[in-house]
Amino acid sequence: MRERVLSGMRPSGKLHLGHLHGALANWRELQERYESYFFVADWHALTSEYASPAAIRENGAQMVLDWLAAGIDPEKAVIFVQSRVIEHAEQHLLPSMITPLSWLERCPTYKEQLEQVKDKDLHTYGFLGYPVLQTADIVMYLANWVPVGVDQLPHLELAREIVRRFHFLYGEGVLVEPQPKLTEFPKIPGTDGRKMSKSYGNSIFLSDTAEETGRKILPMVTDPARVRRSDPGDPEKCPVFTLHRVVTPETERARLAEGCRGAGIGCIDCKKALIGHLNESLGPLRRRREELAADPGLVARVLDEGTGRARDEAARVMAAVRRAVRI
Ligand code: TRP
Ligand code: SF4
Repeated sequence: MRERVLSGMRPSGKLHLGHLHGALANWRELQERYESYFFVADWHALTSEYASPAAIRENGAQMVLDWLAAGIDPEKAVIFVQSRVIEHAEQHLLPSMITPLSWLERCPTYKEQLEQVKDKDLHTYGFLGYPVLQTADIVMYLANWVPVGVDQLPHLELAREIVRRFHFLYGEGVLVEPQPKLTEFPKIPGTDGRKMSKSYGNSIFLSDTAEETGRKILPMVTDPARVRRSDPGDPEKCPVFTLHRVVTPETERARLAEGCRGAGIGCIDCKKALIGHLNESLGPLRRRREELAADPGLVARVLDEGTGRARDEAARVMAAVRRAVRI
């Protein structure tokens, strides 16, 4: 039997370059080698967006369109929506009985979010339990591997601890201890030089047009020491160059770096080259997204089919879990 991979994304709407190089490129490759489950984590979105849930469903649909355009293939992977596989709620409940509060309270993502997020009240039972819900998603499909970014490692560690505790209390061999699968990729900076994130308004979306991409890149932040055209720059300190590393061929990149260091090229030249390569590399995905969007029932059909397959597996594992807990 092939090993299993599972990953989820919260439905934040249209995806950007960071999602493409951070997650989707990885998923696309994993689906060839593993039995793969990829899902829309809409209940996870609800843990923080409970006061304004109206956009969650449409955001999920837009996100799945991006997945499909990026080559996530419903023939190869099970693509589904968390809230439509009702067993996730039961699977969340049972581990919540055995998860010590202290494990959740000391989770770094929890502490960080409570400190940083001020526009929403995250002092809720549901938000504290976020990693338990994530554990439920993972163990539900007996996933061996979970592709995630480093920020999610504490959640994976918690999932492993919960599985071990479950086995200690109810007997071995029911669940699978999942392992994280980290990808090496450069952190994708946004146009303001900070990490690319929808909430910062600094993103290049997969669904942007070539013109929009150009308009966003031209005013992009560069090496702050390069004020005038005649000042030499340092590509290592420039977010524009970090994007070149992702899309620009090696030889041209070396030429641009040299031009930057010797003030032989201006930042506008450098950015124009980047715009060309970005649009070239995103072109096929964008065309595919448009083709797919022309069929308005497509995402619903993909999700219906995938959710059906996920339900079958979830029912099977849930039955084994109930037997183990003797309830
Ligand atoms: N917490 C993940 C994130 O914010 C999303 C997620 C929910 C997830 N359930 C998951 C990721 C299960 C991997 C496996 O990115
Ligand atoms: Fe950045 Fe390119 Fe300007 Fe150098 S030339 S500072 S790499 S934008």
